[in-house]
Amino acid sequence: MESTKLIKVWDLPVRIFHWLLVAGFFVAYLTEEELLTIHAWAGYLVLGLLIFRLLWGFVGNDYARFASFLCSPAKSYAYLKDAIALKSKRYLGHNPAGAAMIVLLIISLFMTVISGLVVYAADQNLGPLAGMIGGQQ
Ligand code: HEM
Repeated sequence: MESTKLIKVWDLPVRIFHWLLVAGFFVAYLTEEELLTIHAWAGYLVLGLLIFRLLWGFVGNDYARFASFLCSPAKSYAYLKDAIALKSKRYLGHNPAGAAMIVLLIISLFMTVISGLVVYAADQNLGPLAGMIGGQQ
């Protein structure tokens, strides 16, 4: 009889990070002007999670580490081409397309949070950048 070996890929911190990121993003996305304080706190949560994930990318388990999955854009592209042709290699953890997704997700979320912090300081004179950016007095 064939035996099945269970391989634990995603560790608990990565799972908690993932679902908190989903929650933080959607709360921030669905709240704005009228609920700006909640919006800002959801955004801070996202920022904290991004910082955690960057650190975890160096000290987490093998599958969480950037060194185990980051690759060149050419490799991600080649993987996507193979996937469309239904002949892609299988990977445990992130495949090369997933690696590109992670990089783009982290960069775009950082840019979203930073632009939010800048607008928060400039429009409301609130948040950690208040006083540093020409806000309304
Ligand atoms: C993942 C995190 C975030 C998401 C998805 C997000 C999303 C959005 C969206 C969709 C808007 C509306 C833009 C528009 O109407 O053109 C907005 C506006 C805004 N966001 Fe965020 N945001 C995030 C983080 C933050 C953070 C960290 C802060 C500040 C602490 C912030 C402060 C603001 C402010 C001040 C506005 C303008 C509100 C207004 O006057 O209309 N955001 N955000």
